[in-house]
Amino acid sequence: MAMKRVAVSAFQALSSSSPSSSSLTRHLHASAGSKKIVGVFYKANDYAKLNPNFVGCAEGALGIRDWLESQGHQYIVTDDKEGPGCELEKHIHDLEVLITTPFHPAYVTAERIKRAKNLKLVLTAGIGSDHVDLNAAAAAGLTVAEVTGSNTVSVAEDELMRILILVRNFIPGHHQVINGDWNVAGIAYRAYDLEGKTVGTVGAGRIGKLLLQRLKPFNCNLLYHDRLKMEPELEKEIGAKFEEDLDAMLPKCDIVVINMPLTDKTRGMFDKEKIAKCKKGVLFVNNARGAIMDTQAVVDACSSGHIAGNLATHQNSIKDQ
Ligand SMILES: NC(=O)c1ccc[n+]([C@@H]2O[C@H](COP(=O)([O-])OP(=O)(O)OC[C@H]3O[C@@H](n4cnc5c(N)ncnc54)[C@H](O)[C@@H]3O)[C@@H](O)[C@H]2O)c1
Repeated sequence: MAMKRVAVSAFQALSSSSPSSSSLTRHLHASAGSKKIVGVFYKANDYAKLNPNFVGCAEGALGIRDWLESQGHQYIVTDDKEGPGCELEKHIHDLEVLITTPFHPAYVTAERIKRAKNLKLVLTAGIGSDHVDLNAAAAAGLTVAEVTGSNTVSVAEDELMRILILVRNFIPGHHQVINGDWNVAGIAYRAYDLEGKTVGTVGAGRIGKLLLQRLKPFNCNLLYHDRLKMEPELEKEIGAKFEEDLDAMLPKCDIVVINMPLTDKTRGMFDKEKIAKCKKGVLFVNNARGAIMDTQAVVDACSSGHIAGNLATHQNSIKDQ
């Protein structure tokens, strides 16, 4: 289970967090004894009881409560993270470690960092730390760590599922059945095979590579755009072609998958102009952050039919989007 892997890795990250040589860094181990650790996770309510391995919620507390408390630390877990009177705010002035997840992120703004005088480690139990003001964190000497690789298989599998759902026009067919309808033509007129389609991933790091590997048996044309080219042996094994110029790759793709982090460079990257470079009828799968896409541009392109289908896992993940 992915969240179990995240929890184990978060556990390792916590226990191996070591002092840096930089004088700017706030040292986690500089003071001995009990540390105040705050975890911010979503509440699962009744679902929490259904699976003992479901540790990514507030009730499961990442499964590290016993260990942390056995080490003498104080571990406070909450889902209440917004507004001046929220539970997180009560601990901002003296917490030393903050753990949170991308699906229910505690936003670590410059203003919060300023007030969090004792904060030394911000740990993302997952991948992607765009909920943290990284410039402010670096200036304050905070360590921002994430559990790299923890849920990559889950995301790659999910992306493959979303691609098939879109290509085969599955969702409208599913709705028909639920509504007691049976109109084959209404689905078939735009249901295709994945075989022979051109799929391009924008970002081919850990997740992008796993997706390409999973797509290979479907006999697609596989393209990838990244800042880095893969090793030739890996590129050959995966069977994907490197496209240095994103604008040159987009018009070739039937399906575009986004697999890069949200950064200052990628925020809003898929705007009106970028989307216009894609084929008419392109399908988009975005399992990275929503803010990489310009929401209005996506809405407009979906309405005009330029984008024929769009599935994403995250809404825009920075609250001011
Ligand atoms: N939906 C989910 O549940 C979920 C889970 C995990 C990760 N993610 C998202 O997926 C992203 C990718 O995860 P990963 O583990 O593959 O990360 P990774 O660091 O292994 O790969 C990211 C790739 O993007 C490339 N890249 C970065 N900036 C780029 C740019 N401007 N142009 C082109 N390429 C660029 C990097 O070179 C790298 O190869 C994460 O940052 C996170 O936002 C989502």
